[in-house]
Amino acid sequence: MEVVVGEPTRVQTLAEKNPTQVPPEYIQAPENRPQIKIPTTEDDTSSTVPVIDLFGFDPDHWGDVRRELGQACKEWGAFQVTNHGVPIHLLHRMRSVGLSFFKDSPMSHKLSYACPPGSAASEGYGSRMLVSTSNDTVLDWRDYFDHHTLPLSRRNPSRWPDFPPNYREVVVEYSDCMKALAQKLLAFMSESLGLPSSCIQDAVGDFYQNITVSYYPPCPQPELTLGLQSHSDMGAITLLIQDDVDGLQVLKDGEWVMVQPLSDAIVVILADQTEIITNGNYRSAQHRAIANANKARLSVATFHDPAKTMKISPASALVTESFPPRYCQIVYGEYVSSWYTKGPEGKRNIDALML
Ligand code: OGA
Ligand code: NI
Repeated sequence: MEVVVGEPTRVQTLAEKNPTQVPPEYIQAPENRPQIKIPTTEDDTSSTVPVIDLFGFDPDHWGDVRRELGQACKEWGAFQVTNHGVPIHLLHRMRSVGLSFFKDSPMSHKLSYACPPGSAASEGYGSRMLVSTSNDTVLDWRDYFDHHTLPLSRRNPSRWPDFPPNYREVVVEYSDCMKALAQKLLAFMSESLGLPSSCIQDAVGDFYQNITVSYYPPCPQPELTLGLQSHSDMGAITLLIQDDVDGLQVLKDGEWVMVQPLSDAIVVILADQTEIITNGNYRSAQHRAIANANKARLSVATFHDPAKTMKISPASALVTESFPPRYCQIVYGEYVSSWYTKGPEGKRNIDALML
């Protein structure tokens, strides 16, 4: 293991030199390279990530919504929601301040927020996901800004960009809206398994929430590299918005399926702790982001995780003689440390817990 020290290369800086090739550290092994295919109208619509209308949580629709959510959680572990109650202009403002930080502020300003090199999951401007990398680790074609937003004791807006001027205020408002939506979704998911509505939330405890704005610059050879390598998210539930550029893909039955960019929708990605708590009834989604030759892409992912001290195990109501526990109990902080040292490599981390 080689510990990375010193400032990492910023992908945006590389891309601004208009290279004709990606540097070798960004070239994926042939089996991990994306197959860039243009969707055709004949494509089977059953392989489209589900889009679920939440009808603003109108009680008249609860039954149908629960059923649709339950099915999407079982079959996909990822779906999009519309009429989710989060003001659409807030989604636009969040994307707009995020994009402005990356595109309109000078590198010197961005670097004043640089994540300390060599520390895991720290807040700020970063380009490398892992702390220590072996020599053969391939880098992602992405820069990001990570914000610690909840609980309030971790929220310190003075560590976030102050450009554009409304940046911090938008992140605060966005954080609160995402928390409320995540809670409502977990309640529906619990009910769709026949559990009391608070079951999953009680198992997760108070959310630790991080917001990561990812910026994927245009890439000269998108067929050789990845914006973000294949992984499942570690925590409980991720809510993601993207701009109008394709890039996010979900693995379904061995095929990578593009999540269609819908500007008013929110992408819901089930993460590993929800898979454990639901005893595998609901699966965390393996996903990745591909790069794009012509356009920069922006996404905003909001992660909702348990506290590091939480013990996570399958909900007792879902463990019976005929359905024994499928995962061993973990302490969430230990799961996170092992993820950051070993790397995501698909779903290897949660697969290691299977009984
Ligand atoms: C992530 C993630 C996908 C994207 O940050 O965990 O999966 O489209 N992002 O940026
Ligand atoms: Ni992810």
